[in-house]
Amino acid sequence: MSSEPERCIRVHHAEPLEGEVLVPGAKNSVLKLMAASLLAEGTFEITNVPGIADVGIMAELLRAIGVTVTETPDYGVVTIVNGGDLTPVAPLELVDRIRASINVLGPLLTRCGEVTIAMPGGDDFGSRPIDMHIAGLEAMGAQFEFDGGTVIARAERLHGAEITFDFPSVGATENIVTAAVLADGITIIHNAAREPEIIDLCEYLNEMGARVGGAGTSTLRIEGVERGSLHGCEHETVPDRIQAATYIAACAVTGGRLDLLNAQSKHMEMVLSRLGDMGMEIDQLPYGMRVAAPERLRSADVATLPYPGIATDYKPLIITMLTVADGVGVVTENLYPGRFAYVEELQRLGADIKTDGHHALIRGVDHLVGTSVVAHDIRAGAAMVVAGLAAEGTTTITGVHHIDRGYDDLVGRLRNVGAEIERVGC
Ligand code: UD1
Repeated sequence: MSSEPERCIRVHHAEPLEGEVLVPGAKNSVLKLMAASLLAEGTFEITNVPGIADVGIMAELLRAIGVTVTETPDYGVVTIVNGGDLTPVAPLELVDRIRASINVLGPLLTRCGEVTIAMPGGDDFGSRPIDMHIAGLEAMGAQFEFDGGTVIARAERLHGAEITFDFPSVGATENIVTAAVLADGITIIHNAAREPEIIDLCEYLNEMGARVGGAGTSTLRIEGVERGSLHGCEHETVPDRIQAATYIAACAVTGGRLDLLNAQSKHMEMVLSRLGDMGMEIDQLPYGMRVAAPERLRSADVATLPYPGIATDYKPLIITMLTVADGVGVVTENLYPGRFAYVEELQRLGADIKTDGHHALIRGVDHLVGTSVVAHDIRAGAAMVVAGLAAEGTTTITGVHHIDRGYDDLVGRLRNVGAEIERVGC
């Protein structure tokens, strides 16, 4: 991927989008499933894997640790063979590229008794500490050493503990659950994250032979098992609710009507309810959901919260929808204070947005006007594409590698439902 010349996305003002979009598997699940495969010897076959760059980076990281990873992107399959001979070191050049690399911490520590890991990178939106991951593992008997940008964790064998999070962190929940799977005794996590991707991970662990209860509630109970009792498994990745929302946003700003195959409305209740307030018609189908946009969207106020609240990842898409809605909407960010970088790009397209700390006030305009904009991170990049569909004329987006980290053929999928959009050299 890195050897290719940088590409831009060029998008023209769109007529109402119509047709079917197949929603791929979730990035924020599959990367964690791949990391969890470090826990057991055996063969793991993960299906419904999205064709995204981050899967390739996680595969490289796992190979560096000592497992065999085969990607079959045409079939959406990743096969991992863990032969048990692991080097529990996560090198900076890989770790720095994706936030989810921190997810090897729990599995490697519990399985190998030691792990050396560079501090994680990922999206560039403010500080993303891992203090809760560390405190939880310390409560289970781990000892940490910090050497510049590197964390070294040791524990001959972790033991169960009762852990209460101050905040239902997704990453910390995942690391503690995966570590607890092979710990001595029972671990209870209070105020655990409840995201669908956490449920997917817990199901994967149980398919592997682990004993994890309470997935999807705020209390998880993990009974540690012996190493030898875990084994390989097959698992289908949960569909991506954020990619689904991206196609809903594209439908919304073009006044379109789309069938989103595989989209899971039960994972999106809160955001769908708010989209309903904005005038979107949403119907559940046996195989996904049908969305239809009104002539003009209505404004609404939205605040991000941990699941089941409205995810922070939806926010750039919602703000983009509000830029062309009727009225004034206030969007409040409660998770990542710095996550407003794309607002400036929307303003360049003619959006009327004011930010104040955690809040953005969006006054809908009649239309945006296409120009050149930058994708600052994955979701902000997708929001630029959606804005480009709404804008008069042509919008050119740079920083497309961010979009490729989390979107499986966004351009092709939108073109299939009528958008005039293409990748061009820049
Ligand atoms: C995951 C998702 C990300 C999503 C986020 C919230 C992946 C790869 N990323 O990120 O797309 O936006 O969930 O739904 O799955 N925090 C601490 N200390 C910690 C851990 C977290 O202060 O030890 C803070 C973070 O800085 C942030 C908030 O808690 O402000 C949420 O973090 P968390 O839920 O852990 O999100 P991630 O797992 O990083």
